Amino acid sequence: MKKIQISPSILSADFSQLGNEIKRLENAGADMIHVDVMDGHFVPNLTIGPPVIEALKKDSSIPFDVHLMISPVHKYIESYAKAGADIITIHPETTDNLKVSIDKIKQLKKKVGVSLNPETKVEIVEELLDQIDLILIMSVNPGFGGQKFMPQVLEKVEKLDKIRKDKKLNFDIEIDGGIDFENSKLAINSGVDILVSGTTIFKSNNGDIKKNIDLLRSV
Ligand code: DX5
Ligand code: ZN
Repeated sequence: MKKIQISPSILSADFSQLGNEIKRLENAGADMIHVDVMDGHFVPNLTIGPPVIEALKKDSSIPFDVHLMISPVHKYIESYAKAGADIITIHPETTDNLKVSIDKIKQLKKKVGVSLNPETKVEIVEELLDQIDLILIMSVNPGFGGQKFMPQVLEKVEKLDKIRKDKKLNFDIEIDGGIDFENSKLAINSGVDILVSGTTIFKSNNGDIKKNIDLLRSV
């Protein structure tokens, strides 16, 4: 049985206490920290950038899973790598040349993620699957935490899981948006390896993040 990894999104954390929130997540068994970077252009919301990531990373011992929802993304990849991102995930719509942006992330010795919006098809990245470390399937339209899970995206998870088996590839499948204790099981059964969660981890069970992380991980 594979171990499911949990990547809590700090979008739902207390922003006045971000350093402490990350410590709490580490102590509660989070496998990595999901950082949602938004530009008010590719998505209708603004969050944090490299200086905040750099400051938080100094005090943290687990990988930073940085989800870039910014356009155009290519010229900013290096600053997120330098700030301490361990995984850099980009959306195909935000770069003129996905292959060139993937190569850039690799040159910087970071793990490469590609994220597919609910409407974006697997075919857009199919030929490049052997060059990436993870596919991030969006189960909401990116921009905000606390949205409703879109179950139809699980078809893409199943498709990717099949391609991975057929072609003997190693990329991880991560899912992001509206994950709760019920749909997490559907996602895991469809082939997901990494669950992103903000609202469920920070708000369920009176904010008992250890309990929530454990519950999400259990099938
Ligand atoms: C949405 C972000 C997600 C989101 C997850 O654009 O990429 O990471 O904040 O939060 P919940 O779990 O609340 O949907
Ligand atoms: Zn995200």
